[in-house]
Amino acid sequence: MKVTKTPLQANITLDDLSEAMSRHIRSARLISTWKSRTSILFRYHLVANDSCITDDAVIKLAKESDVAPLFFRSMQNIAEFVDSLSIPNFECLRPLGMCRKKGFVVMPYVQGEGLDVLIKNSCLGDDREAIVDNYIELAGTLLGYYHQRFPAVDDAQIKEAQSDLETRLCDTLPFDHNFACNTHRVARSYGDYHPGHLIVTKNRKLVLIDPPLSETFTFIYRDISWFCYWLLFLFLRTKLFLSNYYKAYTRIRARFLKGYSGVLSGGLTAIDRLAIDYCEAFLIQRCLRKCSFWQRLYYLLPLTHRLRQLQTTNLYLETKQK
Ligand SMILES: Nc1ncnc2c1ncn2[C@@H]1O[C@H](COP(=O)(O)OP(=O)(O)OP(=O)(O)O)[C@@H](O)[C@H]1O
Ligand SMILES: [Mg+2]
Repeated sequence: MKVTKTPLQANITLDDLSEAMSRHIRSARLISTWKSRTSILFRYHLVANDSCITDDAVIKLAKESDVAPLFFRSMQNIAEFVDSLSIPNFECLRPLGMCRKKGFVVMPYVQGEGLDVLIKNSCLGDDREAIVDNYIELAGTLLGYYHQRFPAVDDAQIKEAQSDLETRLCDTLPFDHNFACNTHRVARSYGDYHPGHLIVTKNRKLVLIDPPLSETFTFIYRDISWFCYWLLFLFLRTKLFLSNYYKAYTRIRARFLKGYSGVLSGGLTAIDRLAIDYCEAFLIQRCLRKCSFWQRLYYLLPLTHRLRQLQTTNLYLETKQK
């Protein structure tokens, strides 16, 4: 492949890259660039002096420069953890290098399709529904293992989780303290675990690309409901009729919870599921409160419908039973 030199973006020089990767990088060809909420990403084809780096690399430049070391360390740790689990067809990216001065991390480019994209396509009737369901279950399994690996070990961590849950839920929902006593369900929070952080490769591997950056302890429900809430937004973009939309959403959500439940000691109990519903309802309410007029027009019907569904099928029913 002919490689032409292209100036690197955002003041990153070839020397910076060479330093980050501990080898001399001769040239870098920009292939694409995109922005996320918290960083700018560049896909490059790099050529090193010793050999060609055959796979493309992604440079992730955090908007806050001091995030890079945390990101790098966390990516190494989660990759080691995922390797130790030896889950078939599940992998985690390992970083290739990091530049503290410029605040970026270099990692391999993963060729494939985001799980979020696969989910959206699968509910438009293609034949990949069963495959997508398996990946979603795997995603649930991984989160389950993560929480199991980092459970709360002292009272301070449990208090931290309890106050987090109470401040989130108390003002908006009929908060039930029963599950707040469920202290063995406290673990280190992954923080931002969602289908967009999982890529399905051509050889059918699920690859985790974004490590956990949070050090806080929360009830496991927070990470679980965050993933479910994300699923809801994927379906919003499929333009399915409302009833089909919920059918697909309910199916995928159930598979995620099944994967999670499989690794949790004693599985997910009714009270756990209620807590997940509470947290999901909280996220929906917060979204409806915060969104702009135009977003509200778009989200109002599906989100309020889902909220009502959560409230009528679970929240009020369960609280009445007590
Ligand atoms: N190594 C990679 N290979 C292929 N695609 C990637 C890679 N890293 C990131 N991406 C793509 O870029 C998107 C954003 O990446 P990422 O989530 O790592 O950025 P972020 O700054 O954490 O964004 P956000 O704050 O929205 O989560 C991903 O959803 C994925 O589609
Ligand atoms: Mg991310």
